[in-house]
Amino acid sequence: MSERPPIEFPDGFLWGAATAAYQIEGGVHLGGREPSVWDTFSHTEGKTAHGENGDVACDHFHRVAEDVALMADLGLQTYRFSIAWSRVMPEGRGRPNLDGIGWYSDLVDRLLEHDIVPCATLFHWDLPQALEDIGGFRNRDIPNWFADYAALMTKHLGDRVTMWSTFNEPWCYAYLGHAAGIHAPGLRDPLAAVTVAHHQLLGHGLAVEAMRAERNGLELGIVINPSPIRSEGEPPAPDDALRRVDAIHNRWWFDGLLRGEYPPDLVEDYGDLMQAVLPGDLEQVAQPIDWIGINYYFDILLRGLSNDERSRRMYAYPTVQGATEADQRETHTDMGWPITPEGFTEQLVRIKDEYPNLPPVYITENGCAYDDPVVDGRCADRRRIEYLDLHLRALHDAMSEGVDVRGFYQWSLFDNFEWALGFDKRFGIVHVDFDTLERTPKDSALWYRDVITANGLPAVES
Ligand code: FCB
Repeated sequence: MSERPPIEFPDGFLWGAATAAYQIEGGVHLGGREPSVWDTFSHTEGKTAHGENGDVACDHFHRVAEDVALMADLGLQTYRFSIAWSRVMPEGRGRPNLDGIGWYSDLVDRLLEHDIVPCATLFHWDLPQALEDIGGFRNRDIPNWFADYAALMTKHLGDRVTMWSTFNEPWCYAYLGHAAGIHAPGLRDPLAAVTVAHHQLLGHGLAVEAMRAERNGLELGIVINPSPIRSEGEPPAPDDALRRVDAIHNRWWFDGLLRGEYPPDLVEDYGDLMQAVLPGDLEQVAQPIDWIGINYYFDILLRGLSNDERSRRMYAYPTVQGATEADQRETHTDMGWPITPEGFTEQLVRIKDEYPNLPPVYITENGCAYDDPVVDGRCADRRRIEYLDLHLRALHDAMSEGVDVRGFYQWSLFDNFEWALGFDKRFGIVHVDFDTLERTPKDSALWYRDVITANGLPAVES
């Protein structure tokens, strides 16, 4: 009996995979690149698992030809990558670095030779350290420097790259980086976090304007990571905590971008923390955009916790407590993240219903960490195939309910440097041996190639 039927996606649906510069490139001292906040953070004792860093990572900097050929072998139709700001503008403003720009230009040419549509992200968390030294995204001038950087990249790549996103998951950069302190730059300062949340959106709006002034016909977007927020266990999480986490994690971004206002309940909660928001800013933030990227991994499950514990977790990913080892294997990935595909459908339908001006959606990240070994040249990652199958079906359900989704990027093409968690958390459909740097497509990569060819999923038998 067939438990899950075959499904098909609409014609023209784009299939791809995603990466980010600091997680794969390496070559941190090469071609004129200067440090970013992630170089500093990962070289600071105690900040990353096993003291690991992105100095070499997947060495994509040297292996770009081989890697693009591999993307083509896997049938990818599009590739989402990020540009390391300090590779192309070493001080973050002023002097461009033509060597660094040339490296990305070469990547783009290689992608186009293989008919792979490039999708470039301008900021995936690796702020030039030189800008952090003058206040990073707490500095009111940085949104303008970001717009200059965006215009520079448009000038050099805009003839070949149409699809751009300004920011990746600005919630993470703001709160994990400035409130929880577990990501670069490692601050624990609520005022800084809220200021950075706002200045990123302001930078987004200014960049959209600057890029459009530089060139017509671009497809400009931004990548957000919303999740349903639920109470789990006893005692239940208080309604007020659910409301507030929803406002911080979800509504802030969509209200800002699509309504030109921040959620009134959060504005009230935050009070003085909102001091960076000046008259006129939100009009700038809410520039019309061509698409919005959604990264989805899991629903955020809040427990009825003590006040201290609750406020600590408001800014952090949920951890799994109380589950037995066996439970964890069945219901959670190696990140400790719960597997909640129904939340993916719910999230997409919610933004369609609540924001009538929602532009077309791309799923810019979805995937899971599991550590499966390579045995005799094969990496049998059954759990990743199952995760992706469930999430693609959930996506299809949302599309059947009318959400206009144009493409899907699996996270990630390669096992890579998973930020503070180092190299242990393997998200790739391609296994990377971090001693030899050898790449081995996992079973999921071969499965994904078939999904792309069929533009859909096969039936899954029970
Ligand atoms: C997202 C990030 C990406 C990666 C995945 C697992 O939050 O955008 O770089 O770390 O999670």
